[in-house]
Amino acid sequence: MPKTTISVIKADVGSFPGHSRTHPKLLEKAAKMLKEQRGKLLIDSFVTHCGDDLELIMTHTQGVDNINVHRLAWDVFMECTKIAKSMKLYGAGQDMLADAFSGNVKGLGPGVAEMEFEERASDPVLIFMADKTEPGAWNFFLYKIFADPFNTSGLVIDPSMRKGFVFEVHDLMEKRMIMFKCPEEIYSLLAYIGAPSRYVIKHVFTRDGEIAAASSTQRLSLIAGRYVGKDDPVMIVRSQSGFPAVGEVLEPFCTPVLVAGWMRGSHHGPFMPVGLCDANMTRFDGPPRVICFGFQICNGELIGPADMFDDVGFDRVRTRCNELADIIRSQGPFEPHRLSLEEMEYTTLPAVEKDLMARWAPIPE
Ligand code: 13P
Ligand code: 13P
Ligand code: MG
Ligand code: MG
Repeated sequence: MPKTTISVIKADVGSFPGHSRTHPKLLEKAAKMLKEQRGKLLIDSFVTHCGDDLELIMTHTQGVDNINVHRLAWDVFMECTKIAKSMKLYGAGQDMLADAFSGNVKGLGPGVAEMEFEERASDPVLIFMADKTEPGAWNFFLYKIFADPFNTSGLVIDPSMRKGFVFEVHDLMEKRMIMFKCPEEIYSLLAYIGAPSRYVIKHVFTRDGEIAAASSTQRLSLIAGRYVGKDDPVMIVRSQSGFPAVGEVLEPFCTPVLVAGWMRGSHHGPFMPVGLCDANMTRFDGPPRVICFGFQICNGELIGPADMFDDVGFDRVRTRCNELADIIRSQGPFEPHRLSLEEMEYTTLPAVEKDLMARWAPIPE
């Protein structure tokens, strides 16, 4: 049996109204184009959206970074951009930062999370998709899932997990990476991932090198050199039998964490777990949201999805997120609701400053 690859590739290619949600016509087109590849390039596929981000979930045997799979995703986004433009949807082609495909969608705008593995007797996989935030938003949750015994009881009571996990952290500014073995290096890991705008967890592995989690890490502003919207990341997490249980993977989302993104990609706001029916951005273009689809992988087939946050068990965190949204919104344009000056360099603030530059005078001695 060849290894199975899961590729989750996403882009915002236009939405309605404003940055609120993907239009059904785009979802239909994308689903049709991927279904045409069933039994050819792909084994299976599923198309959905989180807010204005079009999410392509694909399974195949081509491995990660495969040129044909990436080209397919690119072509889907291009076709959907055409439809978005014909309807004058908002931000049509927003995340398509290149004119043409060049071997891999990485660096061209779309976000990518992929993993290849040998299927176990039973392979539960959880796919997280977010809108109105940045890739570093996953740092807190991946830490809790794979390194915090107060979250993941399996780290304490499951003999197959007691060795811990290895975290691959990327520095998005310096384009370098480092591996941290946990639990022994959790303090060093936290020193970096506590700064999620720059340091992001790309992969988590078992101590034997088996892939456990993968996330998308592109930052649109760093690629484009200007503000083009937030990156709205995706993440794949394997579960059970040596990995955290499904419920252990979901549990950290009961904490209302503040993340960067929300209105104009320039504000901190609570990261709210929701079912698909609530994955539409409204209040102040948010609040930032995350959906989670659960699948069993069976010879590459996607058995599912189960809409994991569509559950009363997450009602309380949603209420707390709304309370937090009220509190932080009342600060209006003041930090720390508004992002720090360093982060605002990647938004439209420099253009405002340029306007006012000539008006500044030295303070008299
Ligand atoms: P079951 O006994 O229902 O398989 O559950 C085991 C488990 O891992 C629960 O998290
Ligand atoms: P997106 O990054 O989801 O397109 O949102 C951009 C924005 O400006 C929201 O206010
Ligand atoms: Mg948008
Ligand atoms: Mg978006």
